[in-house]
Amino acid sequence: MKKKIVVVGSMGMDLVVTSSRRPRAGETIIGDELHIIPGGKGANQAVAAARLGADVTMVGAVGTDQFGEMVLANFEKEGVSTDFIRSIPGTHTGTAHIIVAEGDNSIVVVPGANSLVDQAQVDQVKECIKEAAIVLLQLEIPLETVKYVVDFCYEHQVPVILNPAPAQSLPEEFIQKVTYLTPNEHEVCIIFGCDDVDAILQKYPNQLILTEGEKGVRFFDGKQMVQVPALSVEVVDTTGAGDTFNAGFAVALTQGFPLKEAVRFGCVAAGLSVTKLGAQGGMPTLNELKQHLGEIF
Ligand code: RIB
Ligand code: NA
Repeated sequence: MKKKIVVVGSMGMDLVVTSSRRPRAGETIIGDELHIIPGGKGANQAVAAARLGADVTMVGAVGTDQFGEMVLANFEKEGVSTDFIRSIPGTHTGTAHIIVAEGDNSIVVVPGANSLVDQAQVDQVKECIKEAAIVLLQLEIPLETVKYVVDFCYEHQVPVILNPAPAQSLPEEFIQKVTYLTPNEHEVCIIFGCDDVDAILQKYPNQLILTEGEKGVRFFDGKQMVQVPALSVEVVDTTGAGDTFNAGFAVALTQGFPLKEAVRFGCVAAGLSVTKLGAQGGMPTLNELKQHLGEIF
């Protein structure tokens, strides 16, 4: 039987512009291409996990606009359950305004309906969450809602992965209830301060999983620092790499992989995802991922 993954979080459309460089303040430049493609950190995690073969339920909200319809159609196409997605009249679906230039992205997120995912909506999916093998969270819906889910999961011993992105400072008692916290090198500084990252990792053994882009992923196992290398690839677009890592990591955990192997699984998935444009472009299927696992196993 497939083990269920529940993602509670954001979804929307990414308006991606590719350009040779980004404009300075007050400047207008001519870009290359526009891509209107599904995104949002929650949706990206859900789609990545579904491509890797997981049974995925998405909890979140869209507006009753055309983007909302596109988001729902994309989930249907990818085999993600939409039973617990609300369509909220009078609200825009979330959007992200992304410039891909000079080998990196800059993003402005407009939350729209994502800002209306609340405790009442979570109350309606409690039974589903209780049955989950793992729950995936990010920070593009209200923090109060994320905290509410974490408290509920903690009470019912459902493991939680929180990708704390976009980062904000988080209370210690909240962090303690999260099974795995997966910041990148910028986010870890915002959450904990960046004086001594090794010391921070040592304070949260087997819990704080630090993603460092092309350097791979690090965590402290209680005795030593464990370093898992990234896949060596030609980078086209890093948007969504973190989301793909979290999904791969989650899928491997639900399959009973030990922590280090689950991190490897996530790293390979993320590495493949950056070889194509768009957050969801390049996210591998299980078969594609298996062909590359050997490269670092
Ligand atoms: O993590 C990548 C995602 O962040 C993009 O898809 C965009 O929607 C932003 O929210
Ligand atoms: Na991609």
